[in-house]
Amino acid sequence: MGTEHLIIFDTTMRDGEQSPGATMTREEKLRIARQLERMRVDVIEAGFPAASNGDFEAVHSVASIIHESTICGLSRANEKDIRRCAEAIAPAPRKRIHTFLATSRIHMEKKLRMEPSQVLETAVNSVRFARGFTDDVEFSPEDAGRSDIDFLCRVLEAVIKAGATTLNIPDTVGYTMPEQYGSLIRTLRERVPNADKVIWSTHCHNDLGLAAANSLAGVMNGARQVECTINGLGERAGNAALEEIVMAVRTRQDVFPCDTRIDATQIVPASRLVAGITGFAVQPNKAVVGANAFAHESGIHQDGVLKNRETYEIMRAQDVGWHANRIVLGKLSGRNAFRTRLQELGVVVESEEILNAAFARFKELADRKHEIFDEDLQALMSDETVTPQDEHFKLASMSAHSETGEAPQARVTLTVGGVQMRAEASGSGPVDASFKAVESMVASGAELQLYSVNSITSGTESQGEVTVRLQRAGRIVNGVGADTDIVVASVKAYLNALNRLQSVERMNPQEG
Ligand code: KIV
Ligand code: ZN
Repeated sequence: MGTEHLIIFDTTMRDGEQSPGATMTREEKLRIARQLERMRVDVIEAGFPAASNGDFEAVHSVASIIHESTICGLSRANEKDIRRCAEAIAPAPRKRIHTFLATSRIHMEKKLRMEPSQVLETAVNSVRFARGFTDDVEFSPEDAGRSDIDFLCRVLEAVIKAGATTLNIPDTVGYTMPEQYGSLIRTLRERVPNADKVIWSTHCHNDLGLAAANSLAGVMNGARQVECTINGLGERAGNAALEEIVMAVRTRQDVFPCDTRIDATQIVPASRLVAGITGFAVQPNKAVVGANAFAHESGIHQDGVLKNRETYEIMRAQDVGWHANRIVLGKLSGRNAFRTRLQELGVVVESEEILNAAFARFKELADRKHEIFDEDLQALMSDETVTPQDEHFKLASMSAHSETGEAPQARVTLTVGGVQMRAEASGSGPVDASFKAVESMVASGAELQLYSVNSITSGTESQGEVTVRLQRAGRIVNGVGADTDIVVASVKAYLNALNRLQSVERMNPQEG
């Protein structure tokens, strides 16, 4: 059935970045952008260039290296933002400006304090201004899901005349029901003059758990672009998850008249990359990318799948990039085997220096852990691609001791800006003691908001992956660390979060 093209617009690095602590550095955005391009995403929304210098630089860098996907920047509906956005995306061979303005009564009255006529005029002027920089301009009437339909039609008619080429209909607060959202798209396509000259797009939030269902209802009713994020990351409860949209449309080609051009085997690697960078672990029962998404636990199911896979499986795990945990490398593997496996995993190693450092750490890990899986390599490379300037706080060595009936103790040696420091502390457990030792040296004043541990592969020999969320002066960051020793992984995660706080503050001093 699916002959028409469904455009996948990924906003992990813009809407996704708005999740608490998911701020990404320029290097992290480059890594995600490369993976999205490898996955054949049509449009990558790389950020909101006017929001901060850091985001401007990140969008500009992404626009400089990505050639296959369109690079989009978000912009409020004013000339200053749009000009800044145009500058940021300028190096991209294919570039889009996405400008937005709210059209619901509550947003216009309470937030914008604008009359509907002013909103209409501002939207038109912004789209016209954006067209001066690129002929690919997207307009979003923010909170469309709660906007008056007649007013919405008037605004959309006017922005088409002004040159908008994509009209995105956000359910900003995740309020609509699938039936309603589908009929909204249908009504707009029927009522707005020249509707057939533009692409209609969905942008659904997940506050009621309906983001994917609403987006798909939009597609059923003629939308040909879906805005989504890896792992459903995004503001509050998140956005429609890319993996769910892509696999729903692909699996149900009997009902959808369109399909995406996504290479689905890149979905799981993309999910892991984004989870590792943002510190937002994927819940085990998450569709498509959760650890249990293809696990059959009950005897009846296992029996059925053994007899015929299709009794309980509607997709094949390997089609979305899962593979059985394979021992890929071991203690005796050489540098070439290491490099080759990284290439197969799509990990881009920026320099020989990084490769050498990573190989040394791989050897260290292989001494402690006999079987090295792809997941271990990915975690190892996440650590390795931290640039030296982002590693002000570094773990040199540590020991932690706990004994029944005794207060746990930790001794930690750090290098802080190249200077070595050592401290000891006790705490309620070895992790608490280690964090106290670190704080006694760095006195960061940051508040610990979240601490979580996951095992990267299975078994007690697995590396633990720790996420730590810190808050300081209104800024929230997540830090991630991996090690076979979870206390060491915890300290690495804590230091990673401190380094991120520093780099966010350095990149965006005006926000402080
Ligand atoms: O949710 C929303 O309304 C948005 C717009 C900026 C498209 O993210
Ligand atoms: Zn949004």
